[in-house]
Amino acid sequence: MAQIEWCDSHSVGITALDDQHKALVALTNQLFLAIMRDEGPKELGRVLAELARYADYHFDFEEQILTEHGFPESGFSHHREEHRKLTSRVQTLLRQHEEGSVALDLDVYSFLREWMTEHMIGTDSEYAAFLASKAVR
Ligand SMILES: [Fe+2]
Repeated sequence: MAQIEWCDSHSVGITALDDQHKALVALTNQLFLAIMRDEGPKELGRVLAELARYADYHFDFEEQILTEHGFPESGFSHHREEHRKLTSRVQTLLRQHEEGSVALDLDVYSFLREWMTEHMIGTDSEYAAFLASKAVR
């Protein structure tokens, strides 16, 4: 298990969105480091809550750009659904962590790592060409 390394295949070709994706990756990596360094439940909860807040901001931003440029609903609805599912999964994890019924461990990190990379390389890349054709940079 290792940190997520940003690479060109993660790029959607739009600076603002790439920067936000890099910030999400950085927060996910921060969670990984906090787990590896055994920084304790309080710090782990703090990092995951920060990640949740940033993900909310980023998903809204991304969805707004897609709406503004008329991204076809067929692709948009499943994209939005992926965002919603992640948001709800992370909220559940935060609640269970708060209650002490779940540990934020490498399984959680591994789930987030997989979601981030697959979402960026798969789902997000589906709008890259579309936004490029609308001259969004
Ligand atoms: Fe997305």
